[in-house]
Amino acid sequence: FPVVVLISGSGSNLQALIDQSLQGQLDIDIKAVISNKASAYGLERASQAGIANHALDHKQFESRELFDQALMSLIDQYQPKLVVLAGFMRILTEEFTRHYEGRMLNIHPSLLPKYKGLNTHQRAIDAGESEHGVSVHFVTSELDAGSVVLQASTTIEADDTADSLAQKVHALEHIIYPLSVKWFSSGRLKLENGQATFDGAP
Ligand code: GRF
Repeated sequence: FPVVVLISGSGSNLQALIDQSLQGQLDIDIKAVISNKASAYGLERASQAGIANHALDHKQFESRELFDQALMSLIDQYQPKLVVLAGFMRILTEEFTRHYEGRMLNIHPSLLPKYKGLNTHQRAIDAGESEHGVSVHFVTSELDAGSVVLQASTTIEADDTADSLAQKVHALEHIIYPLSVKWFSSGRLKLENGQATFDGAP
C-alpha cells in the first residue's frame, strides 16, 4: 500500500511507521519521505531505512501556491494512496488539500477540537486542563479541523511541564498513528461526506 510521508522535524512518528512496517504489523510501503526543511532529522531516518527522501525548501518558492504545486507533483510521482503528515509544519493551500481529500491524514497534539494550532501542551496546562492528548484526523482546508479518526488522552499532573506532557503525548502518538494508517490501508477507515467512517467488521 503506497504511502508518502511529509515531515519538518525529528520524525519520531515516521520512525514508528517504519518500525511497525518492518516488524510486519503494518502492511504499507513508504515510497518517499519529503521535508520542507533540509535539516530535518527524519530525512536521516528515511535514508537509514533505505527510503527515497527529498528536501523541498519552501523558501525557494515565491508563494505558498507555487510551493504546494511543486510538492504535489513530487508526491504524485510516487502515486501514493495515502499521504501522511507527520509533523509537517506548513499550512496547506485549498488546492493541495482538495487534491488529497480523503487520502491525507494528520496528527495533532491536542484533543481536537481543543487547541488547534501551535504550543498545545503549554496552552492546555495554562488553561488548567486535567486531560490532554492527541488526535489523528483527515485533512481538510481548514487548519486542524478535519474529521477526527482516533484520539488518545493522558492526565495532566500538577508537576507536568510542556516538555513532560509532550513526551507523554508523543508516546501515545506512536501508538495511534500507525493504527490509523493500518485501518486506512486495509480499507476499514474512509472519509465519507466529510466524516471519518470506520468499518469495525473483521
Ligand atoms: C508531533 O507532536 C505531532 O503531533 C505534531 O508534530 C510533532 C511531530 O513529531 N504534528 P515527530 O517529528 O514525529 O517526532
